Amino acid sequence: MGKGIDMQNLAGETIVVTGGSQGIGLAIAKNVAAKGAHILITDIQDGSDAVKEIEDAGGSAEFRKGDVTSEESMRAVFKDTKIDGLVNNAAYYAPLIGNFKQFTDITVEEFEKVMSVNTTGVFIVTKEAVPALNDGARIVNISSGTILKGTAGLLHYIASKAAVVGMTRTMARELADRDIRVNTIMPGLTASPASLQGGEDRIQQRAEASQMLKRAIQPEDIANVIGFLLSHESGMMTGQVVNVDGGNILY
Ligand SMILES: NC(=O)c1ccc[n+]([C@@H]2O[C@H](COP(=O)([O-])OP(=O)(O)OC[C@H]3O[C@@H](n4cnc5c(N)ncnc54)[C@H](O)[C@@H]3O)[C@@H](O)[C@H]2O)c1
Repeated sequence: MGKGIDMQNLAGETIVVTGGSQGIGLAIAKNVAAKGAHILITDIQDGSDAVKEIEDAGGSAEFRKGDVTSEESMRAVFKDTKIDGLVNNAAYYAPLIGNFKQFTDITVEEFEKVMSVNTTGVFIVTKEAVPALNDGARIVNISSGTILKGTAGLLHYIASKAAVVGMTRTMARELADRDIRVNTIMPGLTASPASLQGGEDRIQQRAEASQMLKRAIQPEDIANVIGFLLSHESGMMTGQVVNVDGGNILY
């Protein structure tokens, strides 16, 4: 990138956000749309409201229904498409809020359900995305700060998100010869609608008790850092884990 070029500008690029119809995914989509990228949201639930929100703000977006646990579904999402960025944001997260369980009470079916979306899903989406990725593309996978804490009641979720860190490292090595960069973001507890089901107090209490920065982490705080990882400003970062938790765990 030469001098004078706006390294944040993503005009003419297409970025895919899985699970982008709400919460952190929607905040990411809005962030990169504002940098000029065309956004392709894929989700198992309808994303037309998210597309409208982006378009109303002057951005460009489309929605393609897709299930990250299905190779066939993801192949259809990426068919005849060239992309410059992918955010593996979709996860089985919201259904777990208010449903924490001792690991001895988690059934094999529940464990496999979480792994299928959060771990196998990242593998499937990225594998199916590779033929669509332009050289120089960027991938951001979303892990979670829970893996550093070993939060009680979430063994399946923690196993699934720890695997994302490992996959990121291998993907980064295997895609580097095409100048494709792969990084992981590790958000702390964030005030997305999914987390807010557990009560606003829980999030503020966490901020006050264990974060250096005493305010709730907002979806936009996570999206801003992902926007940087998707931009050309982070051009020499790959295979990394970036922890965005208000100064909670010093990883
Ligand atoms: N909110 C937090 O505190 C927090 C903290 C750390 C990490 N994270 C991670 O950040 C990401 C976004 O979190 P959020 O709070 O917005 O969660 P969320 O549950 O609201 O969003 C997840 C999205 O993924 C979609 N999805 C679920 N299963 C899918 C499937 N099989 N195929 C396609 N889409 C599917 C959902 O419909 C939803 O739109 C997730 O990866 C989550 O694990 C969240």
